[in-house]
Amino acid sequence: MTAATQLRLEIPEPQQAIRTELHPDLNHAHVRFINLGKTYDGQQGPVAALHGIDLAIQRGEVFGIIGRSGAGKSSLIRTINRLEQPSSGRVLIDQVDIGEFDEDRLVALRRRIGMIFQHFNLMSAKTVWQNVELPLKVAGVPKEQRDRKVRELLELVGLQAKHKAYPAQLSGGQKQRVGIARALVHDPAILLCDEATSALDPETTQSILGLLREINQRLGLTIVLITHEMAVIREICDRVVVLERGRVVEQGPVWEVFGNPRHEVSKTLLAPLQHALPPELQSRLQARPQSPDAAVVLRLQFTGAAQDEPDIAALFNALGGRVRLLQGGVERIQGHALGQLLLSVSGSPLDAEDLCQRASQWAQQVEVLGYVV
Ligand SMILES: Nc1ncnc2c1ncn2[C@@H]1O[C@H](COP(=O)(O)OP(=O)(O)OP(=O)(O)O)[C@@H](O)[C@H]1O
Ligand SMILES: [Mg+2]
Repeated sequence: MTAATQLRLEIPEPQQAIRTELHPDLNHAHVRFINLGKTYDGQQGPVAALHGIDLAIQRGEVFGIIGRSGAGKSSLIRTINRLEQPSSGRVLIDQVDIGEFDEDRLVALRRRIGMIFQHFNLMSAKTVWQNVELPLKVAGVPKEQRDRKVRELLELVGLQAKHKAYPAQLSGGQKQRVGIARALVHDPAILLCDEATSALDPETTQSILGLLREINQRLGLTIVLITHEMAVIREICDRVVVLERGRVVEQGPVWEVFGNPRHEVSKTLLAPLQHALPPELQSRLQARPQSPDAAVVLRLQFTGAAQDEPDIAALFNALGGRVRLLQGGVERIQGHALGQLLLSVSGSPLDAEDLCQRASQWAQQVEVLGYVV
């Protein structure tokens, strides 16, 4: 039995499986949203936060949710433990509709779904140890068992030495480690993270992401993560969904969405990861060649569709003439090579259109940006 199956959500009553006649993957989804909608009663009338959300999150994956502020990310993630009650549609966990759960089953459900927050939500008057222990106490777990669990979790998050400290004596990263330990006390099957690294500096973010990855792999936890930091998605997510005005506008494996974002919102959100044209080059760029020796400026995009990194020598040879590298680079996400190259080509026997044609043997998207002398 794997760690993942051991951690399957235990629900006190016999499970009532719901038949879904869709894709087989959906029948094994850990979390499913079916035509989910959420409308709040706002002060100035109803606020429609989510519409027709259909999504499947697989067991053991790290699933990212991105979108502009107000897009509905928190509303969506909070329906998983029913901190928000959907207005329409259903949420299934392990094929079980949680919409009909009574209080007892909701308590059981919430114990098996951990959650961590941007501002940690620790009790300031309690020590690290007591903060982690509290949910076990509330659940009536005997002292010996509590002690064992707290010790084990503080070790997992690397905070054994700080167990007597109060939150005010901890750094942001350490506070989030306490938050993670506390979220894991009931051996959850799912961990929800709403902007869990947003209050942390880049180095601390890296260490928390490392810890989340370890938890995901060692304990087989499914992680659902909201962030406005695209680098976080790139770093640890398997798949990502883009929300806009309460709707899913794009979803897929991270390499695919990052390599070739299709929706305007995804493009905007991912723009900071892309290298803009250097201003100095931009100012020299002309729409038409002003002299016979003007160089063509090409942008080559590698969307990850090819498995191998581009063969630069072969590419340069095929373009002919003098090829200069103006800017660019390639990175690997989930084993796919993604990136872009800005090249200027002068003295080639090929015209701009033919250069594009040639270059498209190596890059998935090629465009002529203009000409420079
Ligand atoms: N309790 C509430 N009452 C009324 N409207 C709400 C409530 N909670 C959220 N909303 C509205 O629902 C929409 C979605 O909010 P939500 O918090 O889910 O967005 P978000 O994507 O998490 O945004 P952010 O990135 O700023 O956290 C917004 O228009 C918000 O104003
Ligand atoms: Mg939010």
